[in-house]
Amino acid sequence: MLYTVLIASLAATVSADCSRDFLKSATDAYVAAQSSGKPGNFSTFTTQDVVITENNNGTSTNSSLMATPIKLDFNRSFHDTVQCATFTELIAASNPHPFVIHTRMTFSNQKATLIESIVTDAGDWLFNATGTLNLVTPEDWSPIPTEKQNTRAVIQSVGDAYFNRFGNTSVVVPWGPPCVRVEGGLAAKGNLTGDDCIQEWPSTIKMPYRRYVVDEEYGVVDIFTGFPGLDRTQGDAPMPDSHLFRVENGKIKFLHTASACVVSGCGLNGTFGGSFTRRRVPVHF
Ligand SMILES: *[C@@H]1O[C@H](CO)[C@@H](O)[C@H](O)[C@H]1NC(C)=O
Ligand SMILES: *[C@@H]1O[C@H](CO)[C@@H](O)[C@H](O)[C@H]1NC(C)=O
Ligand SMILES: *[C@@H]1O[C@H](CO)[C@@H](O)[C@H](O)[C@H]1NC(C)=O
Ligand SMILES: *[C@@H]1O[C@H](CO)[C@@H](O)[C@H](O)[C@H]1NC(C)=O
Ligand SMILES: *[C@@H]1O[C@H](CO)[C@@H](O)[C@H](O)[C@H]1NC(C)=O
Ligand SMILES: *[C@@H]1O[C@H](CO)[C@@H](O)[C@H](O)[C@H]1NC(C)=O
Ligand SMILES: *[C@@H]1O[C@H](CO)[C@@H](O)[C@H](O)[C@H]1NC(C)=O
Ligand SMILES: *[C@@H]1O[C@H](CO)[C@@H](O)[C@H](O)[C@H]1NC(C)=O
Repeated sequence: MLYTVLIASLAATVSADCSRDFLKSATDAYVAAQSSGKPGNFSTFTTQDVVITENNNGTSTNSSLMATPIKLDFNRSFHDTVQCATFTELIAASNPHPFVIHTRMTFSNQKATLIESIVTDAGDWLFNATGTLNLVTPEDWSPIPTEKQNTRAVIQSVGDAYFNRFGNTSVVVPWGPPCVRVEGGLAAKGNLTGDDCIQEWPSTIKMPYRRYVVDEEYGVVDIFTGFPGLDRTQGDAPMPDSHLFRVENGKIKFLHTASACVVSGCGLNGTFGGSFTRRRVPVHF
C-alpha cells in the first residue's frame, strides 16, 4: 500500500514537472509577453541561462522581439509533455509591422532552456500576414477524439516523410484532403485523387537540423529545420524554417510554413544544386 502511494506520488511529481497545464501556462505567458511587449510577463519561466534565438541569431530577453508590443490577430499553441516542449503560432496582420512568428520552447525544471523563433515579415518567403490569417482562421484544429488519435511516432513520421521527400523522390508522403498547404501567405494547391494529394516539390535538398514538437491530442507535429541557403550572419548556414503539420488518420490535413529568407528569394530561385553542399552547423543546434 505504502509502495503504491509512493509510486503514485512519484509519478505525480514527474508529470507535474511537465504537465500540459504547466506548458499551457508557459505559452499563455509567452503570448501575453509578446502581445504586451513586456518580457516581464514571461519572467517566471526564464533564468539567465535561457538561450533565445530569432532566425538562428542569438539574443536576450530584453533585446528580443518579446520586448516590442505586437498586436496579435491570431495565436495558437501546442504542447509536448514528453519532450517538455511547446510550439506557438502568431499572426499579426493588422499590426503596423506585420509578422508571422513560429516559436518553439523547451523546458527543464519548469524553466525555459531554449526559446527559438522563426520571425517572418515583408520580404520573407511568400510573406503575406493577411493571406496567412485568412487561410488559417477557417481551419479546424480542434482536439482529436482519443480513439482517432494517431501515435506520436506516426504523427512525427508524416512530418519527416514531407522533409525526406525533399531529397528523395521515392518517399511517399501521406497527404489527404483538402490538399492545400499554407505556404507563407499563399495557398499552394496540389492535385487530389480520391483521398490522396499530390503536391509539387523540389527533389535535391537534404533537410537537416530537425527539431520537433509533437502534440498527439491535436495531431500536431511542428518541425524546425534549416533550408540549405545563406544565413544572414553565418555565411552559409541553413535558412531558418518551421513547418506546422496537422495530421489526421495518418495523413497531412493542414500545413503552415514559415521561412525566413536570409538572401533574396530565400536562395530558392532557379536550381537547387551547387552551394547547398557547403553547410555548417549553426551555433545553437
Ligand atoms: C503583464 O505585465 C504587466 C506589468 O508589466 C501587468 O500589468 C499585466 O497584467 C501582465 N499581463 C499578463 C497577461 O500577465
Ligand atoms: C544578429 O545579432 C547580431 C548581434 O546581436 C546583430 O548585430 C545582428 O543585427 C543580428 N542579425 C539579425 C539578422 O538579426
Ligand atoms: C530586463 O528589463 C527589465 C525591465 O526594464 C529589468 O527589470 C530586467 O532586469 C532586465 N533583465 C535583464 C536580464 O537585463
Ligand atoms: C490568444 O488566442 C486566444 C484564443 O483564441 C484568445 O482568447 C486570446 O485573447 C489571444 N491572446 C492574445 C494576447 O491575443
Ligand atoms: C495578401 O493577401 C491578401 C488576402 O488574400 C490579398 O488581398 C492581398 O492582395 C495580398 N497582398 C499581396 C501583396 O499579395
Ligand atoms: C529513398 O526513399 C525510399 C522509400 O522510402 C527508401 O527505400 C530509400 O532507401 C531512400 N533512399 C535514400 C538514399 O535514402
Ligand atoms: C496537377 O495536374 C495538372 C494536370 O494534370 C498538372 O499540370 C499539374 O502539374 C499537377 N500539379 C501537381 C502539384 O501535381
Ligand atoms: C529571387 O527571386 C525574387 C522574387 O522574384 C527576386 O526578388 C530576387 O531578386 C531573386 N534573387 C536572386 C538571388 O536571384
